[in-house]
Amino acid sequence: MQVTRELFDQVMVPNYAPAKVIPVRGEGSRVWDQQGQEYIDFAGGIAVNCLGHCHPALVKALQEQSEKIWHLANVMTNEPALRLAKKLTDATFADQVYYANSGAEANEAALKLARRWALDNYGEHKSQIISFHKGFHGRTFFTVTVGGQAAYSDGFGPKPGDIVHAEYNNLDSLRELISDNTCAVMMEPLQGEGGIIPPTQEFAQGVRELCDQHNALLIFDEVQTGVGRTGHLYAYMGLGVTPDILSTAKALGGGFPIGAMLTTKAIGDHLKIGTHGSTYGGNPLACAVAEAALDTVNQPEVLEGVKTRHQRYVDGLNAINEKYSVFSEVRGQGLLIGAALNEQYKGRARDFLQASLAENLMVLVAGADVVRFAPSLVIPEQDIDEGLQRFERAVAKVAG
Ligand SMILES: Cc1ncc(COP(=O)(O)O)c(C=O)c1O
Repeated sequence: MQVTRELFDQVMVPNYAPAKVIPVRGEGSRVWDQQGQEYIDFAGGIAVNCLGHCHPALVKALQEQSEKIWHLANVMTNEPALRLAKKLTDATFADQVYYANSGAEANEAALKLARRWALDNYGEHKSQIISFHKGFHGRTFFTVTVGGQAAYSDGFGPKPGDIVHAEYNNLDSLRELISDNTCAVMMEPLQGEGGIIPPTQEFAQGVRELCDQHNALLIFDEVQTGVGRTGHLYAYMGLGVTPDILSTAKALGGGFPIGAMLTTKAIGDHLKIGTHGSTYGGNPLACAVAEAALDTVNQPEVLEGVKTRHQRYVDGLNAINEKYSVFSEVRGQGLLIGAALNEQYKGRARDFLQASLAENLMVLVAGADVVRFAPSLVIPEQDIDEGLQRFERAVAKVAG
């Protein structure tokens, strides 16, 4: 069958507008399309391909597991799921793991657990969930409502209730909303989709304290920031602020779909038998790949390498900006970097993405005003340099 981009418009629901090129193969941070054109990947499948494409350790884990067992219902458990859960709990604050297949599902579990915990411990009045404007937590109806972007949550009828939004990095705005009726505060420990906005240390610390004062759970959505992305295994470790529940997905499977919710025993025990579940959650193939990804990323030299690569990007982007004056700021942590467009180029992030693609470089946007970079955590320095040269050519075209 001849597969062309036109086929998308015939057979797919039009909720995405994919680029003209159809990639068919990837290796490390390089990708090739149907015509054999080669691209450098600064997008990493939106912060998913943490070890680039087809990393040998992940390929090996997938191949080996594919010859053992593919799926079991949750009436059984399996070895990869338990090995991964042990490693996740050993490496973090958490005692327990719930498996899902995506970030939204991990967050859905986190929110349902928080509601159940509050109901069991305090009663029905304690159901309020506070999250932050510009936050993003997924597309299920609960998570998209908790996310702070009406554009994503409106137009689908009545929403789940008792969800309010505060201003990120504004403790007073949270203080005004939080009360003993608050069951949980959900936040990204660096807003991704909202524009690559890191929290201040005081804000993150203050959120934790307000939660403690009101017996509310703190949920960190680490779907985008997790698994080494910020140069720490999880961003909370860098902030020194520990959540009660953490969601992780994207990079966890390095490209294989898996999500997980991590929590303490005291909280997790409230998800009693039958209260929540997922057919594919804990799938052996997904868990085997995720175990290999976690083993590979959670090494001091890999996490340190994320920090040095961060500096290389920031220096390169600042040098481009000195020539073309297109950014107001280059910000972010580790390999989650945003180049915020200045007044003159506001709203034109997509133009930079398109121009980059024309230069054989894949980048991302975070809203209309920020060009986002979320490459492989082990991207070779040579690929960073060459990719930045391509990006400079793209910037020159947009600015020229
Ligand atoms: C912070 C955050 N939470 C949740 C999600 C949703 O994850 P998924 O698309 O896997 O459901 C995303 C996806 O971009 C995200 O960035």
